[in-house]
Amino acid sequence: MSAAQVNHSLAERVEDATPPEIEALARRYGQQRPDVHRAWNSVLTGLLAHRSIRAYLPDKLPEGALEAIVAAAQSAASSSNLQTWSVVVVEDEARRARLSDYAGGQAHIRQAPLFLVFLSDLSRIERLAGEADRPVEGLRYLETFLISAIDAALAAQNAVVALESLGLGAVYIGALRNKPNEVARELGLPPHVAPVFGLCVGYPDPAVQSAVKPRLPQRVVVHRETYQARPRDEGIAVYDELLRQFQVSQGLPAVGWVEAVLKRLGSVQALNGRDRLQAELKALGYELR
Ligand SMILES: Cc1cc2nc3c(=O)[nH]c(=O)nc-3n(C[C@H](O)[C@H](O)[C@H](O)COP(=O)(O)O)c2cc1C
Repeated sequence: MSAAQVNHSLAERVEDATPPEIEALARRYGQQRPDVHRAWNSVLTGLLAHRSIRAYLPDKLPEGALEAIVAAAQSAASSSNLQTWSVVVVEDEARRARLSDYAGGQAHIRQAPLFLVFLSDLSRIERLAGEADRPVEGLRYLETFLISAIDAALAAQNAVVALESLGLGAVYIGALRNKPNEVARELGLPPHVAPVFGLCVGYPDPAVQSAVKPRLPQRVVVHRETYQARPRDEGIAVYDELLRQFQVSQGLPAVGWVEAVLKRLGSVQALNGRDRLQAELKALGYELR
């Protein structure tokens, strides 16, 4: 092949190459992908590549990775800088097995080398107030529990973005709220501390495929200036079909999105014990006034 031919075929390849944003947006939205024009960078490529990982290699995290992930988590915004969250780092196999049992037997909690439990933690401020002999009326209210749960979620999501950037994978475990008091006993939590969710962390097992799960089209979730109630949104029907195709590609039953959502929230039984959350939190010292 002559130099001119090589140059020509290279140029062709460059022209053929799909820009990273088109690829990332197509994976996330299918044909209903938005046009971002030139608003793109490598952070966005990373964010749009997120997928939950439920199969892990046994390899532990490299030295310093946990500290870097926690630094990212602590860099998230915090309501009034109250920092009302903590995290318990669980590596012990037997403890992970017990936590898996409390969370409906999810196998990835046993398999992932690291399990992080993100906590609502009002005990730090409770102790400060006790030592200073000062009132903390504000801690008794639902608002403060919500603040701590939001803080924990923002911190955890920063952790997820950080660990994914290091080639690791994760999956949130909301099922820890099925049995918050058992989890609290297992982790030795003091009063005014409650698990918000867990996070399995480790290297994804390359033998088990995982794919980017499509999301609702932007026109379904974005409202301009005021909320537009849409009695029957055809964007949802298109998404339902897209998710059905995704489920088939993953070897899952093609239930679509609407059916999955209605089933997940259709009955008290489907809450798997979380219908008792208020009482469980009260038993952990939260008043939720
Ligand atoms: C707060 C929270 C709790 C979750 N709990 C669980 C869980 O207990 N088990 C699980 O397998 N996935 C859990 N997930 C993962 C979701 O199912 C997943 O994020 C969703 O299906 C979208 O898929 P993706 O993360 O791959 O994009 C949870 C996600 C969030 C945000």
